[in-house]
Amino acid sequence: MTRSFRLAPSILSADFARLGEEVRAVQAAGADLIHFDVMDNHYVPNLTMGPMVCQAIRPHVSIPIDVHLMVRPVDRIIPDFARAGANLITFHPEASDHVDRTLQLIRDSGCKAGLVLNPATPLSHLDHVMDRLDIILLMSVNPGFGGQRFIDATLVKLRAVRARIDAHVAAGGQPIWLEVDGGVKGDNISAIAEAGADTFVAGSAVFGAPDADGGYRAVMQSLRAALAGR
Ligand code: DX5
Ligand code: ZN
Repeated sequence: MTRSFRLAPSILSADFARLGEEVRAVQAAGADLIHFDVMDNHYVPNLTMGPMVCQAIRPHVSIPIDVHLMVRPVDRIIPDFARAGANLITFHPEASDHVDRTLQLIRDSGCKAGLVLNPATPLSHLDHVMDRLDIILLMSVNPGFGGQRFIDATLVKLRAVRARIDAHVAAGGQPIWLEVDGGVKGDNISAIAEAGADTFVAGSAVFGAPDADGGYRAVMQSLRAALAGR
C-alpha cells in the first residue's frame, strides 16, 4: 500500500530567540507541519511555550501547526490554541479527566483532534473513541525533552495501531493519521514507516543541523530519501 508521508519538525530544538526565522526555514526546507511542544512543568518536568508563541509564529508559515499538549489539565487551554492558529491539537489521555469531552472540544474549536500515547500507555485508550480521532501520536521517548533515544518497542506498538486504523477505515471509518514522536533520525525512519507510521516528528535531527548552508533542507531530503527507498 502506498502511503503519503508527512515530516513535522519539532521547534523544541529550534533557536527560541529566532523562532520566526526558524519556522520559515523549515517550511522552505519542505516541512509538512510545524510540531509545537507545549510543556507545563506539571504533567512533564519541563516548561516550554503557550498560545502566545503559537500566535506569534502563525503569520510566518502557511503549513499546519501541530500542537502537542503535555499539560494537565487540558481543556482550559484548547480554545486559546485554536484562536492562536493551531490546526491539530493532541493530548495525553492521562492528562484529561474526560477524554471524549476533550476530543469533542478540540473539533468544536475547529481543529483536528488526536490522542498521544506514552511508551507505557496501553492502546485500550483508543477503544471507544476511534471515530473522534483525526490523528494518533505514539511517543517513542518519554515526553519532556528533545534529543532522547528512540525506544524500539514502539515499532511493535505502531504495527498494532496501524492494524486498528486500517480495520477502522475498512469498516467505513474516517482516515486517521499515525504520527511518531521522539528519536526519529535518518537511520531509523524507514523502519518506523515500515511499522506503519505516516507522520514523523523530528526535532534534534532537523534543528541540530546548521541551517546556514541549507542544512535543514539537506536533513529533510535525506529523511524523505530514506522513506522513498523503503
Ligand atoms: C518530546 C517532544 C518531542 C521532541 C522530539 O517530549 O514531544 O516532540 O521535540 O525531539 P527529538 O526528535 O529530538 O527526539
Ligand atoms: Zn512532541
